[in-house]
Amino acid sequence: MTGRVHLPVIDGTPVPATGQGHEMPVPADPLLDQFARRIRYLRVSVTDHCNYRCTYCMPESLIGEMSFEPRSAVLTFEELERVISVFARLGVRKIRLTGGEPTVRRGIVDLVARIANVPGIEQIVMTTNGHLLDDLAAPLKAAGVSAVNVSLDTLDAERFAKVTGRGDLSRVLAGIDAARAAGMAVKTNAVALYGVNDDEIVALCEAAWSRGATPRFIEHMPMSHGALYEQARGIAAVTIRRTIETELGALVASGASGGSERKDAGPARYWALARDPSREVGVISAMTDHFCDDCNRLRLTSTGALHACLGHDDALSLRDLVRAGGSDDDLVRAIGGSVTGKRAGHTFSDAPPTTHMMGIGG
Ligand code: 5AD
Ligand code: SF4
Repeated sequence: MTGRVHLPVIDGTPVPATGQGHEMPVPADPLLDQFARRIRYLRVSVTDHCNYRCTYCMPESLIGEMSFEPRSAVLTFEELERVISVFARLGVRKIRLTGGEPTVRRGIVDLVARIANVPGIEQIVMTTNGHLLDDLAAPLKAAGVSAVNVSLDTLDAERFAKVTGRGDLSRVLAGIDAARAAGMAVKTNAVALYGVNDDEIVALCEAAWSRGATPRFIEHMPMSHGALYEQARGIAAVTIRRTIETELGALVASGASGGSERKDAGPARYWALARDPSREVGVISAMTDHFCDDCNRLRLTSTGALHACLGHDDALSLRDLVRAGGSDDDLVRAIGGSVTGKRAGHTFSDAPPTTHMMGIGG
């Protein structure tokens, strides 16, 4: 689901039309942007469908205004493999599969196996709501998924059903356990919201730790034109940390750097209990202390739209290039153009993107 994304556009950056691309030089270092940020990590949405209807992402009330992409618009496995191979050739080593909900894409285990075979790809991870993970964890791990981030906003079954529209807490908890049993690293993701989980911050940490997972909290971001966003409901990162410290004692920066080690190359900053450094918690302060300065990611939607930033609608269609018979060098030029046009950072507060989270995959 891409909302009102316009393709193929990159502000100020001409995208070569297929067939004319050979007239433009292939950029020397297509994954280095003009702010000296190196792209190492591609997030790939494999479907805009989801089996849940989270209030902050894809509520039933908004479904009427959104339209799901027809199957023909979505990249096939062959197309995905081709595009990912080009990214790998350029230096991308890590792929995160997202959605919508990636596990509802038919053949997802085969897709993982194909991506795992792409030369250069070293790490495949997934962001999932966990609903189907109890059955899928072992085959996904065998195919090459080393870690999953599982959305877990509340531990109260009724609240969970309310927040997720159709969700089932017991299945998700079973999914987390299955992922751990299969040998995956697991992080839990909670969008921190007053009235939803403000009274569960510590309980969510304890639940994750007791299952061998790392809890994370995400500040609510205004996607979908800000339609689902109420600023006053979002809990700030500093409040999350203070809440944990009040109950569990001091938090210290986890890892070597003073204040905020980001060891997984993702957007979270990690902290640990001073009295037990094995108990870590990640906080994604997307709004109050954004992490754009060392962003290393690009996003590919299920229809092959390449977004250089989650917070802007700019995108260009790698699908159209592939389907028009574009060569690998054409793809490299287009990717280079996208990276060159990558904005300094998001402008969520002034100008929220029209893009829906379910289309771009977080
Ligand atoms: N703001 C912050 N996080 C969000 N997610 C979905 N929508 C939003 C939003 N508007 C979360 C999901 C998932 C992660 C990929 O992003 O809960 O855990
Ligand atoms: Fe589905 Fe995730 Fe969006 Fe919830 S947040 S509706 S689980 S894509």
